[in-house]
Amino acid sequence: MTAWRVIVLLAFGAMTASAEEACIKATVTVDQVREVAAVSPLIYGQFLEHFHRVVYGGIYDPQSPLSDKNGFRRDVMEAIRRIHVPILRWPGGCFASAYHWRDGVGEDRSGTYDKAWRVEDPNTFGTDEFISFCRETGAEPYLCGNAGTGTPEELSDWVEYCNLSIGKWARLRRANGFEEPRRVRYWSIGNENWGGHEIGAKTPDEFARFVAETAKMMRRVDGLIELAAPSLPNADWNKALLGTAGPYLDYIAIHSYEDPLWQNNDPAPYARCMKWSVNPEALISKTHDLLRSLGNTRIRVAYDEWNLRGWHHPNFTAPVADIPARDANDLNKTYTCADAVYAGCFLNACLRHADIVGMANFAPLVNSRGAIFTHKDGIVLRPTYHVFDLYANHALSKSIQTSTKSGEFRAEDADVTAMDAALTCSGDGRYALAAVNRHDRLPLRMTLRFPESSLSETAELWTVTGAYPDSFNDVDRPGDVALIKTDITWDPRNPVCTLSPHSVNIVCFTASGK
Ligand code: AHR
Repeated sequence: MTAWRVIVLLAFGAMTASAEEACIKATVTVDQVREVAAVSPLIYGQFLEHFHRVVYGGIYDPQSPLSDKNGFRRDVMEAIRRIHVPILRWPGGCFASAYHWRDGVGEDRSGTYDKAWRVEDPNTFGTDEFISFCRETGAEPYLCGNAGTGTPEELSDWVEYCNLSIGKWARLRRANGFEEPRRVRYWSIGNENWGGHEIGAKTPDEFARFVAETAKMMRRVDGLIELAAPSLPNADWNKALLGTAGPYLDYIAIHSYEDPLWQNNDPAPYARCMKWSVNPEALISKTHDLLRSLGNTRIRVAYDEWNLRGWHHPNFTAPVADIPARDANDLNKTYTCADAVYAGCFLNACLRHADIVGMANFAPLVNSRGAIFTHKDGIVLRPTYHVFDLYANHALSKSIQTSTKSGEFRAEDADVTAMDAALTCSGDGRYALAAVNRHDRLPLRMTLRFPESSLSETAELWTVTGAYPDSFNDVDRPGDVALIKTDITWDPRNPVCTLSPHSVNIVCFTASGK
């Protein structure tokens, strides 16, 4: 039976008694429609790094007949527009910590050695190309500055180049063909500067001073920018950073990858991925607690790199890096329903914590571990792409408190709840309930308890899944994991809906409250 037939039968409740027994049960209760916070649209953000085929041969490929006159892949841009990517972080990642923006603007673009990834970067894709790419696709550019080998002045000069209309750097931008300021609002001072792997890593105090002085200059250039700085759930780091640079910052940035594939490309099986799918929420809560304990009520969390799978770049800090091995990141069979379900759980955690999460960036957008894979004749939309399609097009703008109860799924040596849910609404009677079924084999029968109100008798169920937990999409099987819509009818006084195994769903309904 195809996955689609399973979904349709389940959604219409066409189950035999024994099939019903073989369901996991779960309840979502809304005692009162109480708003957690407005959802930041930036949680559906993405990331591009100069790494392997992410930029060159990914979004940017001047030799390809599929590219436009700027060298941007038209098929990639169209896919980006469909999921309304709200913000794109660039140029790294580790790459940013030794990148000098002036190498990538103007006519003279000689290649430079990339000290992070140990290859030559041609510099043909630089600041102006990136901002133009963002403007073409509707994403806000989010520039990550070099806090490794760069200086405060270099970063503030970059703000001048992008956003001013006077001064030497604005004149350079104009000479390069961009008369009007390019209005880049989001900036980050550095990337993972706390880590020994990072070029120009710093101690908490060194970094805090660097951020404060850099932010001061950047804000003198443009007082309207929003600033982030790298963090991790560590009291010393945050005490120094917030104590010295806190007043300048809008976000602290955290990262996570669960599957440690840096050295060995041996992707974890489905059940282990489910065990990990609770980790992002724990990291958000821990970071929130730290911020609170330091007396902060203003700075928000930018989860500006996240993915289930760590990138494969063996020996990248060893005497000899294995660069050809990086091709393994591009094997489409790696990215399965496990990646989709993990992504659904991640986005649900951001929705539930809408009061603190201001931004999130899936890492990366294209190729490597990304949601979109490019090849010479087109693209493959990996399972995670469909999850962004689901949330960006169907989740709503306010996060609502719920309590949930769910049967469990044995995820290797741990029990996790089979269901993970988050409720959003629009404020005009429309609701979107995001619900993941982590179970690998069993459907989940979800009951919704809503406060006294009249619920619609019909609902739309949008589902991302495939026939098997390990289903994936590739050039010769582009639709094994897909997003499909089912119209459902339920009893408005006892609404029940069945979710397919290993699926990510949004149920859209209306309610008029009392
Ligand atoms: O493996 C990719 C790297 O992961 C990114 O460049 C960095 O920011 C993170 O450590």
